[in-house]
Order: sequence, then C-alpha cells, then structure tokens
Amino acid sequence: MHTLVEMRGVKVHFPLQRGETVRAVDGVNLALAPGEAVGLVGESGCGKSTLARALLRLIPLSAGEVWFDGKPLHRLPERELRPLRRHMQIVFQDPMASLNPRMRIGHILAEPLEVHGLARGKQAWQQAGRLLERVGLPSEYLHRYPHEFSGGQRQRICIARAIATQPRLLVADEPTSALDLSIRAQIHALLRDLQRELNMAILFVTHDLHAVRQVCSRVLVMYLGKMVESAPAERLFTAPAHPYTRALLDAVLEPRPSQARRPRNLPVGDVPTAVRVPAGCRFHTRCPYAQERCRVEEPELRAVDESHQVACHYPLSAEAKP
Ligand SMILES: Nc1ncnc2c1ncn2[C@@H]1O[C@H](COP(=O)(O)OP(=O)(O)O)[C@@H](O)[C@H]1O
Ligand code: SF4
Ligand SMILES: [Mg+2]
Repeated sequence: MHTLVEMRGVKVHFPLQRGETVRAVDGVNLALAPGEAVGLVGESGCGKSTLARALLRLIPLSAGEVWFDGKPLHRLPERELRPLRRHMQIVFQDPMASLNPRMRIGHILAEPLEVHGLARGKQAWQQAGRLLERVGLPSEYLHRYPHEFSGGQRQRICIARAIATQPRLLVADEPTSALDLSIRAQIHALLRDLQRELNMAILFVTHDLHAVRQVCSRVLVMYLGKMVESAPAERLFTAPAHPYTRALLDAVLEPRPSQARRPRNLPVGDVPTAVRVPAGCRFHTRCPYAQERCRVEEPELRAVDESHQVACHYPLSAEAKP
C-alpha cells in the first residue's frame, strides 16, 4: 500500500513541574492511504488532539517519525515545511476562534490561495466565491464578516478555507462538537462528500461514534496515549475486539432488547491521568476482563486479521458478547 501519512513510534510528552510528565501520546504507529477517511475516537484527554497536531507538525515530537508523502516532517525545518502545508490542512472545533473577525469572508478564503501562490487579486476572489458555493453558501456572502454567520455556517467557511489549496490531507479535530446537534449531520455529510470528490484523506477526530460511521471507512481507537484498535468501520461497530472499544460502543449504541434496562455507561471509573499511566495494559484498571498478565505485560497492537488490529491479551471474539 502506498501511504500518504505514516507515523512511527510517535511520542509527545509535556513536562510539568516537580519532574512529572504528561504522556499525551506515548508510542503510536499509524498509516493513512491517499484518499482514505479514518476516524480517531476515544474519551476526552486520551491524546487525540495532540496526535493530530503532531501529525501536522504543529507541535514538536518527543520521539518518533512522521512521514508525509515520503517526506520526513520530523526532520524538516519550518522553511521546508511551509510549502507542504498547502497539502495538509486542519479544521478546529471552534469556528469563531479560527476566523479573523476583522476580515471579510472573501479575504479569509483568498488568503491561502495567495500565500501558496495559487491565485491573486480578482482571480483569488472568484475562486473564493466558488469555494463558498462548494460548501453550501451563496457567493454573495464573500463581502460579509464572520460575526454575521451562524456557528454551522462559520464551520462551513473554515472547511472552505481548509480545502482552498486542494490539500491531500484534512485533519478535522472535533469539527462539530461546538455546534447544535441538528446541524452536525449536515457538516459530516459535507466532509464526506468533499473527501470523495477531492480524493482527500481525512483524519476525523471525534468522540461521536455515530459521526464516524457516517464519514469514515476505518476507525482508530485511542486510550491514554496509545492506539488500542484499528478496524474497518463496519467491523468495528459489529465486532469490536478491544474491551475498551466495546465499552465505548455500549455507551452510545441502541441497547439490545435483552439488555434494554442495563445502564449503559463507559467503564467504571475515570480515565487515569496521562501523568501516572498504569503499568501493563493501561486499560486494566477499568477492564472487566483484566487478568493477572494484564497488570504486568503491556499488549502490543497485533493483527486479528488483515485489516483489523488490536492491543489486548484477551481480545473479544465476534461471538463472545457476554
Ligand atoms: N500543552 C500541554 N501541556 C500539558 N499537558 C497537555 C498539553 N496539551 C494536552 N495536554 C494533556 O495531554 C493529554 C491529552 O490531551 P488531548 O490531546 O487534548 O486529548 P483529547 O484531544 O483526546 O481530548 C491530556 O491529559 C491533556 O491534559
Ligand atoms: S489486555 Fe487485559 S486489561 Fe487490557 S484490555 Fe485486554 S483484557 Fe482488558
Ligand atoms: Mg481534543
């Protein structure tokens, strides 16, 4: 498989006072194929945003490598990263914070075209109009300012800006978490359509599993800085192999009739802090299937089959659904 993005052994540690360290990302391997839509899920604080930023080299790595289209991002100085930025864009959670309130939408959208030398002046403005239309807004809105739009419209504008340079990779970090429930699905559909139309890879970071199903063909599950499962989306939803994935699904999916009255929650207890990561399997403090071995030996990510990987000593089988 030709890969667009590859992360190898990536760690991002944040030093705290008193010699402690937040192990936000703690040894992750990941590969994205060109045009692939991949979801990255996990509870808040498990390192998703940090991983996304490390992938784009928006923050430095503590260890490991990130390759983009065969180029070693981890080694390139900022000057050499700049021209590559055109091909890797990001959409953040809060669309208002990402748009300059004093700039007209037309200028906001023309800016990346001009910065990367793709269009200038009137031509850039016209392209900006087409971008607006592409994300479902009329091109007359080019003259308006960000505060004149709703949250959902602003996120459409952020998406338009992100695709202006026709990137090969779009990272969307919880792009709808700040939006009303009623408009989330529209934004997810827009992302999916753009991904297909532009043949652009997407890393869709979210804790919304329904959204992942809508947008992505493959899903990665992260827990406390580590990848614990990777599977095709349908497979992950119907036959998760990691107890943590199973717990995430149980918390959101329709209860099966036999279990209709069981409270559906995430596993007992809170996520341990990324400062004091449990030994062995980091999920053992919350896992209903934990055995002695889990407390001492950390499970590596290994193949269940060709397309499905799991980091667990006792993965769930497709039938075993106690
Ligand atoms: N700049 C930072 N300094 C210290 N700790 C950080 C920093 N950024 C993130 N963290 C910590 O790293 C962990 C992972 O955070 P984050 O990547 O934002 O998780 P997620 O996006 O999955 O919610 C959390 O414990 C968070 O508090
Ligand atoms: S390795 Fe053990 S503790 Fe970890 S998820 Fe698997 S069964 Fe649970
Ligand atoms: Mg986050």
